[in-house]
Amino acid sequence: MTAAFAAGPAEKFPHVGRSATPAEVRAWDIDVRPDFKGLPKGQGSVRQGETVWEAQCASCHGSFGESSEIFTPIAGGTSAEDIRTGRVASLLPGANQPQRTTLMKVSTLSTLWDYINRAMPWNAPKSLTADEVYAVTAYILNLGNIVPAEFTLSDANIREVQARLPNRKGMTTAHAMWPGKELGGQSQPDVQGSTCVRDCRKDVTVKSFLPDYARNAHGQLAEQSRLVGGSRGADTSRPASESVMPNKAVALAKTASTAPEKGASAGSASAAAAAGLMPLLQKNACLACHGMDSRIVGPSFKEIAAKYKGRADAVNYLSGKIKGGGQGVWGNVPMPAQALSDAESAQLAQWLARDFSP
Ligand code: HEC
Ligand code: HEC
Repeated sequence: MTAAFAAGPAEKFPHVGRSATPAEVRAWDIDVRPDFKGLPKGQGSVRQGETVWEAQCASCHGSFGESSEIFTPIAGGTSAEDIRTGRVASLLPGANQPQRTTLMKVSTLSTLWDYINRAMPWNAPKSLTADEVYAVTAYILNLGNIVPAEFTLSDANIREVQARLPNRKGMTTAHAMWPGKELGGQSQPDVQGSTCVRDCRKDVTVKSFLPDYARNAHGQLAEQSRLVGGSRGADTSRPASESVMPNKAVALAKTASTAPEKGASAGSASAAAAAGLMPLLQKNACLACHGMDSRIVGPSFKEIAAKYKGRADAVNYLSGKIKGGGQGVWGNVPMPAQALSDAESAQLAQWLARDFSP
């Protein structure tokens, strides 16, 4: 990666762009690989990790990583026997395990370290020091009894801990495009089929489906827009056979202003779009936590609008809450303060308190 970045565009295309500076490349180049290449030096104990966890992680994941309120639990479902064998028994079909936890799934400790380092805490990614990442990783490992309570995790002993990861042998390269040993070095394509040019749909059968335990685990995906691109998820409120196809839902949302009777979620999404607020909601990732009609991390916008309908000070109150965040009105999960201007939060509050039409 470094080499590709070091030779910048400037030599090849004069006056276009400039080479990234070594400092810029360093800030970007943070990946940690399965062999721990890229892992910064450092250390952190389980006890230090507990402090970081309580302050910065527990509100969403629970004190012991047990909460499934926001995401599937981090710890649980692994045993001493799994640590010995390197395969997690509760992943087997028929095992009586309701949810797949992080410690059940992860095969490489580098992935856990790297993920926390780049993505957590969710509301302030990349804010932890390397030592804090070691500490909080050690705390998580202790929750799964993979390391003892007095343990200090460091770049020097991380390989020994990798050798105790419950699912370390649970990853296979015997599929897809890997030149895996299991296939005698033969690569396999990810998909199989012949090139189709016309009437292609008739022999397509959908073989994958959302298992019941995952239904709506993260709110209604059909209402959630990713931050990049216009893609929306599938309808997760019902089995696939009964669902409105996601493309259709988006099409409905787009046309709902001219046909408002086409269903509640489509109608309210379009109300926001009509009010020109979608870009503001998306820029601030509001929709990652609030569905129009469904709870995700926070209450749905519909519920909020209903609660404050008719309250005289609603615009002021909600504007303050949007900008400053809050906790305890809808539950224990806090809403972080939002970086938007007074005018923007007032605009959103006005929409919720006055114009929202589900
Ligand atoms: C504001 C809520 C919030 C806070 C605070 C938070 N997380 Fe998360 N965490 C999430 C969400 C949401 C996901 C799932 C993200 C996704 O799938 O894109 C997640 C995912 C994870 C995962 C990956 C789980 C998996 O199996 O893929 C780990 C590990 C994790 N968080 C650790 C932490 C740690 C450590 C902290 C504190 C330093 C923290 N989180 C703070 C919300 C939060
Ligand atoms: C990280 C998740 C998250 C994000 C991002 C987020 N919210 Fe929230 N929001 C919450 C949670 C959780 C609550 C409930 C807080 C409580 O119980 O007091 C909430 C509550 C609210 C409330 C109701 C406040 C009250 O006192 O009743 C409004 C209005 C609101 N959010 C609007 C927004 C808007 C607008 C955005 C984007 C600018 C946004 N939120 C971004 C999680 C989030």
